Amino acid sequence: MNFPFVSRSLLAAWGLAIASSTLWAGTEMDRAFERLQRDYKALKTALEAPKEEDLTVYLRKADEMLVEARRAREMEPKMTATVPETERAQFLERFRSDMDVFIANIETLKAALKNARWDEAKTSMETLWQNKKDGHKAYKRK
Ligand code: HEM
Repeated sequence: MNFPFVSRSLLAAWGLAIASSTLWAGTEMDRAFERLQRDYKALKTALEAPKEEDLTVYLRKADEMLVEARRAREMEPKMTATVPETERAQFLERFRSDMDVFIANIETLKAALKNARWDEAKTSMETLWQNKKDGHKAYKRK
């Protein structure tokens, strides 16, 4: 008796799942970087008027950025599929090595924060933004 109702709602849920996955073509890597961006922006705003008593909050944001950057490093950019097969291994090697630099720069940011060296922390934030610009130019599909 319930069957037509159940099957119709299941069908609707299934259709919705398919529609949303095709409409929003975001990748796992997109999501990792989106989470990283949230923490980056929050930290950037906080550093406009930094307070030593908020240090643990800042460090947590930097740690979360590290988690997402390390996660993204282990994935393959969508652009990989468009690179000629013979160049793919090298493309991924360059991506991982650039991500290693990016990760090291987040570590530098953390060290500056720990010592409440706000100017150094801000410089690190600028470096990370430059890494983003270069990284997107090289590895993100237009
Ligand atoms: C502060 C640093 C960074 C921020 C805030 C950031 C932000 C983002 C965001 C929000 C996306 C999702 C798509 C979009 O909305 O454009 C994304 C995607 C992407 N980012 Fe970044 N990014 C950063 C650093 C980097 C670095 C250093 C690299 C590479 C060395 C990189 C490579 C990519 C790639 C390849 C994608 C596309 C994902 C895919 O192909 O599946 N990003 N990034």
